[in-house]
Amino acid sequence: MKVSVTTIPLAELEVDLLLIPVAAEQRARLLADLKAPLGSTLERAEADFTGEAGESLVLYPEAARARRVALLGMGPAAALDAEALRRAAAEGAAVAARCKADTVAFRMPETPLDAEVASQALVEGFMLASYRFLRYKTEEAQTAYGGAQRLVFLAEQGDRASRAGAETGRIIAEAVMTARDLVNLSPHEKTPTLLARAIEKAAKKHGYEADVWDKALIEEEKMGGLLAVNRGSTEPPTFTVMTWKPENAVNERPVILVGKGVVFDTGGLSLKPTKGSMDSMKCDMAGAAAVIGTFEALAKLELPLYVIGLIPATDNRPGENAYVPGDVLHMHSGKTVEVLNTDAEGRLILADALSFARTYMPELVIDIATLTGAAVVAMGTEAAPVLTNDLDGAAERLAAIEAAGRRSGDRVHRLPMYREYGDLLKSDVADIKNIGGREAGTITAAKFLEHFVSYPWLHVDIAGPAFLDTPKPYRPRGGTGFGVRLLVDFLRDYANPKKRR
Ligand code: BES
Ligand code: MN
Ligand code: ZN
Repeated sequence: MKVSVTTIPLAELEVDLLLIPVAAEQRARLLADLKAPLGSTLERAEADFTGEAGESLVLYPEAARARRVALLGMGPAAALDAEALRRAAAEGAAVAARCKADTVAFRMPETPLDAEVASQALVEGFMLASYRFLRYKTEEAQTAYGGAQRLVFLAEQGDRASRAGAETGRIIAEAVMTARDLVNLSPHEKTPTLLARAIEKAAKKHGYEADVWDKALIEEEKMGGLLAVNRGSTEPPTFTVMTWKPENAVNERPVILVGKGVVFDTGGLSLKPTKGSMDSMKCDMAGAAAVIGTFEALAKLELPLYVIGLIPATDNRPGENAYVPGDVLHMHSGKTVEVLNTDAEGRLILADALSFARTYMPELVIDIATLTGAAVVAMGTEAAPVLTNDLDGAAERLAAIEAAGRRSGDRVHRLPMYREYGDLLKSDVADIKNIGGREAGTITAAKFLEHFVSYPWLHVDIAGPAFLDTPKPYRPRGGTGFGVRLLVDFLRDYANPKKRR
């Protein structure tokens, strides 16, 4: 999709569809104002349009060059934030799809947001809502409406800011779609080796580095967690190190992103039931996908920040040689872990990556993972739990990532990490065991990871929002790409020199 900004007058704009976002309180005045450039249809629409969120009304203006106009409700003016714009734009994308519009324009809405934030949000909402995964649709892929080809912003003033925001929005939306594509991919097309190859390809294309470790190297590094999870599989594991280190980076020690890359989670010998459980487990590399999408955006936005990405990848299967409950593992860190449930595999592969991360002396490490069903119970699909270790700056870290969540729409909310939760991981035979118990499953998983962490750290459990059965505005069924917008927003803020001590 091409995105551009223009200052052509409203009436002269020749497009298939002109989108006009309107807040409830703006409706009467705006429709009266638009009568001059677009025609009296606008004024007559007033009775049929309230401006409430999610609403759209298509009109055929007599005066304008645009073939159609759609009014998009943004809801109450007092609640006008970037998310309201994304949702209105998503409704605009639905209208565009219904009328198969090739060229679409947005009239910049009147909001308290600055033009850059507003245009970024509109592009994100529009592009993300236009996403469809057609790779395996043999006929539809040929004939389906391929989405708008051109998206134009009408900017009266501040067109420089609008241009920057639109470009940022386009880059971020594409990165989110990269993550969605990877999650939606059939498991047999994303074995650990193929996933690593996809990262190498993306690295080359977008201009960051990727170094793929094979099984022999993983053995040499003694990544006992990753190797144990991999034992029931016929496919070897991979461990991929991604590097974005621009010359103008503001940090010397890196920020590290760790993404869970379980390319399929059967549960292993602690086998999952199929329906409502194993049937969506191709999503178990959504954390890895979020990191891959984030690197694409970092490189394309040329963010002046040194960032390392770590992707431990394997599937979790009950093959002949599979690890079993009762196995004691020697982890990369040197600690021992008693396995009591082979379905608690994500924490084992993350633990090795987190302990390896220490060799970089990182400023901060963020891991992102579809880690626990308990996270879905706690927060559903509207937000992801975030947890941190009790080091200096814990409160600021949590506040910063929650703020990034609010701004980006990938919302996260904190859970506590009281010491007592860690007691549930005591093992009779090893240093710790890999499951806590029925209670507080998201927290005990984080407490497990904390054993392998020796630096400021954030853990984001995206088991809920990473993959949807019921679509939401601008998030389709299947992979959502959750985490890309969160991490990109967080890191852009983090790189801001005014915020660095
Ligand atoms: N990949 C799952 C978690 C998950 C559940 C992701 C639902 C997405 C949607 C993870 O590996 C898992 O199986 N966790 C277990 C842990 C338990 C055995 C302690 C769980 O949550 O049931
Ligand atoms: Mn599992
Ligand atoms: Zn898993």
